[in-house]
Amino acid sequence: MGRTIVIANQKGGVGKTTTSINLSAALAEQGQKVLVIDMDPQGNTTSGLGVEKDEVENTVYELLLGECTIQECMQKEIFENLSILPANINLAGAEIELISAENKEYLLKNALDEVKDQYDFIIIDCPPSLNLLTINSMCAGDTVLVPIQCEYYALEGLSQLMHTIDLVKERLNPNLEMEGVVFTMYDARTNLSLQVVESVKNNLNQKVYKSIIPRNVRLAEAPSYGMPITKYDKRSTGAESYRLLAEEVIHRGEEEWQ
Ligand SMILES: Nc1ncnc2c1ncn2[C@@H]1O[C@H](COP(=O)(O)OP(=O)(O)O)[C@@H](O)[C@H]1O
Ligand SMILES: [Mg+2]
Repeated sequence: MGRTIVIANQKGGVGKTTTSINLSAALAEQGQKVLVIDMDPQGNTTSGLGVEKDEVENTVYELLLGECTIQECMQKEIFENLSILPANINLAGAEIELISAENKEYLLKNALDEVKDQYDFIIIDCPPSLNLLTINSMCAGDTVLVPIQCEYYALEGLSQLMHTIDLVKERLNPNLEMEGVVFTMYDARTNLSLQVVESVKNNLNQKVYKSIIPRNVRLAEAPSYGMPITKYDKRSTGAESYRLLAEEVIHRGEEEWQ
């Protein structure tokens, strides 16, 4: 059975989108069938994987509003083993438009039920807020993976995020579990990065991935070429670190889900 992983942290700029793109690509490279879902109106996962976000006919927005089917929304095999449900700025209107929709927390889950069996991994990139789009993602997910940027304010907001995950588990999706925490933008030249890792480990009682994503300029450049790092610069430290993370994610899955 496949696993749906929600990449969430209500802070912006912590590496959610970079992780969604490159973890998906690294899983796909290892032969896993992957569907990545862009739940952020900024559509950076969509454009970062080379899909023209303003030219696609159907996006997650139309899907949530029931204006298209999941098949009509899906861009299939944009890279080998990797398909995407794209998003663009239209999605920003969904929150208001869905305010009185029935089962509004489960719109994504219900849409995914039809295709879930066809994928080994479904990766959902969340917007930087704890809104209805994030709640829909958490209701559709099996686990939540939290990227944490190695900077001074790393712990800020994390307790609120954990509380939200607990609430969703209690009231909306009892199956939801923590996948773990992944450190991003680690800078080996500073003590600060190391201190952040240590303090998060000590203060947050969560599974932490051994793979740490370094600060790597190639990771920041890749989206403007519409490519994941595994294609843009396959030998970069960024690519290698996301491959290692993918291996851990696959392995953890085997341990816990069989
Ligand atoms: N490991 C990294 N090394 C260098 N730049 C990174 C790395 N991870 C993310 N970035 C850059 O940091 C910015 C924020 O990352 P992003 O993944 O968009 O965060 P989020 O989705 O959480 O807002 C982007 O410009 C991205 O290219
Ligand atoms: Mg993002």
